Amino acid sequence: MSGLSAELNSVEREMAELLDRLDRWSLAYHRDDSPLASDAEYDSELRRLAELERANPELISPISPTQRVGDKPLPEFVSVRHKLPMLSLDNAFSGEDLEAFEQRNTSKLNIPSLRFCCEPKLDGVAMSLLYENGILVRAATRGDGSVGEDITHNARTMATVPLGLKRQDLPKVLEVRGEVVIPRADFQRLNERQARHGETIFQNPRNAAAGSLRQLDPRITAKRPLVFMAYSVGHVQGGTLPDTHSEVLTYLNELGFKVSELTRVVTGWREAENYVASILAQRDDGDVDIDGVVVKVDDFSQQNALGYVARAPRWAIARKFPAQEEVTTLLAIDFQVGRTGAITPVARLKPVFVGGVTVSNATLHNADEIARLDVRVGDQVIVRRAGDVIPQIVKVLVERRSGDPTPVVYPTKCPDCSSSLIRDVEEAVTRCDNSMACPAQQKAALEHFVSRKAMDIDGVGEKLLGQLFDQGLVKTAADLYLLTPQDLSALDRMGQKSATKVVRAIAASRETELSRFLYALGIREVGEATARALAAHFDSLDLIMTASRESLEEINDVGPIVAGHIHHYFSSQAKRQIVVCLLSAGISWPKKENKPDLTKSLADQTWVVSGKLESMSRDEAGAAIRQLGGHTAGSVSKKTDVLLAGPGAGSKLSKAQSLGVTIIDEAAFSEILREAGL
Ligand code: IVH
Repeated sequence: MSGLSAELNSVEREMAELLDRLDRWSLAYHRDDSPLASDAEYDSELRRLAELERANPELISPISPTQRVGDKPLPEFVSVRHKLPMLSLDNAFSGEDLEAFEQRNTSKLNIPSLRFCCEPKLDGVAMSLLYENGILVRAATRGDGSVGEDITHNARTMATVPLGLKRQDLPKVLEVRGEVVIPRADFQRLNERQARHGETIFQNPRNAAAGSLRQLDPRITAKRPLVFMAYSVGHVQGGTLPDTHSEVLTYLNELGFKVSELTRVVTGWREAENYVASILAQRDDGDVDIDGVVVKVDDFSQQNALGYVARAPRWAIARKFPAQEEVTTLLAIDFQVGRTGAITPVARLKPVFVGGVTVSNATLHNADEIARLDVRVGDQVIVRRAGDVIPQIVKVLVERRSGDPTPVVYPTKCPDCSSSLIRDVEEAVTRCDNSMACPAQQKAALEHFVSRKAMDIDGVGEKLLGQLFDQGLVKTAADLYLLTPQDLSALDRMGQKSATKVVRAIAASRETELSRFLYALGIREVGEATARALAAHFDSLDLIMTASRESLEEINDVGPIVAGHIHHYFSSQAKRQIVVCLLSAGISWPKKENKPDLTKSLADQTWVVSGKLESMSRDEAGAAIRQLGGHTAGSVSKKTDVLLAGPGAGSKLSKAQSLGVTIIDEAAFSEILREAGL
């Protein structure tokens, strides 16, 4: 072998190894949510591959990750005819509808019951991917079901779309179908980014996904957080597949596709309906919008015997959930003053059932949002409630507007104390700066102080605080600790017994934790996680009160803005006075910050499970958490109480660390389950 070809061989080998490693890391990250390498390691290997490719362009593989994003926009979209039509599904709205669906099919097949494969119905956009000899050759939208548009250039940009399928026994031609979705958290960030750049705000993740796929320029699509989840195969030629739909899903997962982890095989409509109930119960916790459950006859020979009616298969049905968007009327807009003085416009709506609850208020965020929507009182609006986000008005149906309602006039004076308002351009917030004397701010601060995650004072809520404030009995939080049962029993509908109970509850809150106390003060931008991080870092109120901005910024979760707010708070003579009064009222905490007591019930705690667990699946861990009264969520945020982390927890682990979220491992979790008798 000549020197040159030996060298080329070793380059080829290195490139092949890099491709293989990058592919494995990408699958672990994107398909399995369980990273094997850090982002920095991935980027560095990718850079090395790109460098070798630049030096040896003839060795570039069509399935190299460097080949995902094209650098030129397409002149126009090309139509493609699907080899097999992409059908739609009939709908079921109740258990009875499912019973009738099973009944129709069992009597046609003359069998007593059916095995179904149940999957979440993902609320996104359908996409078909065509592979020839394992290489992606075409991607298409559904279009009218028979003819769609070629979007290969865009599909290639998605990390969850394998460019090549690695397996020896692949059919010559394999069409994979699935849904393109945008996870809720990414959708929120996408809209924030769009707003910052003055670009279109998307109504919901589905519209954003559809808009992102219909781009001629793949460089735009590449910036959108699109995720492809496979749910079936279409055209297959030159090879055989498993005999059941559920096995095909496992097969697709092995080929490199992300498939829903919530899929389950059941027997009979009752089990299917139980599955529907369990998915509905988790709907708000998941990463992506789910608009129902698809129930499919699992056995392909039975599917074939059942066939199709019109444009829908007889063997599958969509069991729909309550809609997450509804139309209602905007009755009024109120301007509320929050505890930090921020003015929030709140839409009062004609009550409407959406996302499983009756909604009569929605947030309008700020003046920019009102201007963007051009929403006016009397308008018909689309309200959206998805996940645990506050209901939002996402669209005004301008074409339904009657007459010429007047545009909303944003207040220039505080609706409560009439002080002039200040507009904080950076934050797009209008604020009442009269923090010490604005009654609305004082009341909101008191409500925050007693709230569950702050001082957690039982039996003292908005109503009682309102009365105490209005009668001049309580102005600041410290006054609460001076109340006597006599003071309280003078109030409306307050007997001696309840008065004593309230005073006891207030007294009991004196023994607290430093993090709760810090959170209860209501310092701007200091949420529970930041308060916990501050307490853990300094373990002393004195040190926090005298800390410089720089030393505050040493904490992971604290940037210059938050450090500024903390510093500003404790520099104020009046605020320091409040703290002193509270301490002289007897509030105290143990020196070392206690971790939350994980051995009790998990009532109202939000958990995230990430990484690989040995003794159970992540789903089983989630089920146990919910059984103990906790909630589970798909991503780590300020609202997370505990992260259960196994090996490969990756970005969720680092996020939890930076937010000061309690992190436990599988052994500790097993201990909790044992204690709880599970
Ligand atoms: S199977 C013939 N499975 O729902 C059956 N569809 O109304 C074809 N969808 O446009 C669909 N999640 O894009 C199937 N797990 C799932 C799905 C799913 C979402 C969409 C699909 C289709 C629509 C049918």
